[in-house]
Amino acid sequence: MKKLFKILYFIIFILLILFFFLKEVDLKNMFYKNVKEVEKPTDILVLVNKNNKLSKNYVPEDLENINIKYSNEGKMLRKEAKEAFEKLSEDALKLGYKVIAVSGYRDYDYQDNLFNYYVDKYGEEYALSCSAKAGHSEHQTGLAVDVMGSNNSYDDFEMSDEFEWMSTNSYKYGFILRYPSGKENITGFKYEPWHYRYVGYDVAKYIYENNLVFEEYIKDNNLD
Ligand code: DAL
Ligand code: ZN
Repeated sequence: MKKLFKILYFIIFILLILFFFLKEVDLKNMFYKNVKEVEKPTDILVLVNKNNKLSKNYVPEDLENINIKYSNEGKMLRKEAKEAFEKLSEDALKLGYKVIAVSGYRDYDYQDNLFNYYVDKYGEEYALSCSAKAGHSEHQTGLAVDVMGSNNSYDDFEMSDEFEWMSTNSYKYGFILRYPSGKENITGFKYEPWHYRYVGYDVAKYIYENNLVFEEYIKDNNLD
């Protein structure tokens, strides 16, 4: 009898492993399949990801330079996002935190070169995990910003005091952490502590309080 239970447990264990493995493979296979072109690229709640792309020609009309007090030179966002970011960065500064934009709007060709650079340097699998193909990057919306903190490094942003501050405050300015850890199978990207997306205060607060990613918010609200 004991032996029978052991065998049963073993079979259940194997089935569970198989289930999670196949689910993971299945999810991976969904990315960059059945890609739809975004219908309203100017919508503040536009969803751009591995399955929803912007046209090659889309350039937001209301791009503005972020004040260099809060960014590296020449970084742009759409007007509403830019104003919200400057307010965020100014309020952070008042508390002694330096939240600096190191990347904002990126056009189609820039993203194309960036993606290909990662492919050439690190191989396609790695590139796919951390860089969007051209047309599929939120940076082309003008609503996404990569930041660094006082340790002057965006890829070490997680180690900075600014990251901790951003974790509980960015939503107050309408920004969400777009690629959190643990949701890679939904977003399609590795954890990016530095990448924030402007969605406006109400939606950012909802997403923050309910621990969602943007894809989940869009689906739950039938906005897809
Ligand atoms: N690194 C993000 C996913 C992008 O390339 O847009
Ligand atoms: Zn980014």
